[in-house]
Amino acid sequence: MEAKVFFGSNEAVTGSWTERLSPYDNRVVSKAPVCGAEETLRALKIAKAATKAAKASTLSQRCDWLHDVAAKLREQKEDLAKTITDEVGKPIAFSRVEVERCIETVTLAAETMRTMHGETINTDAMPSGRKTTAFYIREPVGVIGAITPFNFPLNLVAHKLAPALVAGNTVVLKPTPEAPLTAYKFAKLFIESPHAVKDALSVVYGDAEVGSTLVGSDIPRKISFTGSVPVGNIITKSAGIKKVSLELGGNAATFVDKSADLDLAAQRCALGAFVNSGQVCISLQRIYVHADVYDVFAQKMAEATQKLVVGSPYEDDTFMGPLINEESAERALSWVQSAIDEGARPMTEVKCEGTMFYPTVMADVTDDMAIVCEEVFAPIVSLVKVEGFDDAAPRMNDSPYGLQFSIFTNDLALTQRAISELEAGGVVINDMPTLRFDIQPYGGVKLSGVGREGPRFAIEEMTELKSVVIA
Ligand code: SIN
Repeated sequence: MEAKVFFGSNEAVTGSWTERLSPYDNRVVSKAPVCGAEETLRALKIAKAATKAAKASTLSQRCDWLHDVAAKLREQKEDLAKTITDEVGKPIAFSRVEVERCIETVTLAAETMRTMHGETINTDAMPSGRKTTAFYIREPVGVIGAITPFNFPLNLVAHKLAPALVAGNTVVLKPTPEAPLTAYKFAKLFIESPHAVKDALSVVYGDAEVGSTLVGSDIPRKISFTGSVPVGNIITKSAGIKKVSLELGGNAATFVDKSADLDLAAQRCALGAFVNSGQVCISLQRIYVHADVYDVFAQKMAEATQKLVVGSPYEDDTFMGPLINEESAERALSWVQSAIDEGARPMTEVKCEGTMFYPTVMADVTDDMAIVCEEVFAPIVSLVKVEGFDDAAPRMNDSPYGLQFSIFTNDLALTQRAISELEAGGVVINDMPTLRFDIQPYGGVKLSGVGREGPRFAIEEMTELKSVVIA
């Protein structure tokens, strides 16, 4: 099936087409138009023209809009899950979870916006103040440019569209080229809803030309981007004076203390390292293990990993399917090979067939190996022996990234230290760092990005506060 461009509420077919091939079996699974600067500017102008109507629409209408989209998502759950699996190779059970998460994200955005209001300000609290009526209100920023990645091709679109639209903005979406049909089907639900604000959403497909036109234009008042650090850097430099939110990479780590429940830790770490083939910004990549329990934990981790079902993403019981492309698999294999050459020891079979890269546990790893200090975005996890949290914490923090960390311990004092000492946007206690509830603030420090998502926090960043004084 074909994705089509949305110039506001009008579906269009423009220029040439690209075919999307399944990363699992190379079948053509979707087609999408290729847009350039011209189409992007056209979409931006439509979005700008729609800002007045979007701002004037009632919150009640916009909440009904999102609830209608959530209801349609429920009806189309299986079709959308299958489309995600076709386009990015995500195992079908996890694609279904992604649709469920998307329903929650959209619903939450509506529920949250209903109660996000301004407040009154006591101006007479200032020595220079006098008794006036002062308050602030929240207004939409106007046009938002949204750019989304392949790893959660539905829910990460929802994290941008739902807060933006319910807050009264208009949006031009550039979805990942790897999953155009997923984005098209989702956008269609918004655009065809009887509660829609006309022309509030446009969708254009393409690569750098579309992205740079969107970011460089002075029509959008905000850019919301999820993707890589190099692209985040380009956006920062070319956006000019507008709001920018960046959700970039990570290099998530955990500390397994000697007091931890090692069975629980091994099971959850295997899940956190290998879910979605490690293609998650908070994928667990580094495990710092207390020396007293290192050997036992390493064995348990290898056993938990060997039990994971790897194979066709269309089978209900498959845990792990392919990587997004062969290039990613080749890079992962070369990094594992270099680590082995430098003295690391694989605890599981190193196996790569095309895009299928099998879950790999590496022991005896050192801090300078690429599999530790770079973002791997592949199913590879490294075990590092440490003397305790004092030894682990600085090594966990010694990364350009700071998205999420975790700790497994039954020592309350260590828990408190982890919360305060780990430099990241989120810290998880007694579970994998690969844990995200869509209601939470989500985002990182350092190179992991700027700003937070999660409906309430995204709405804060997608609105302006207007201060009012009635003298
Ligand atoms: C991400 O990769 O940043 C998204 C993770 C998630 O939503 O679970």
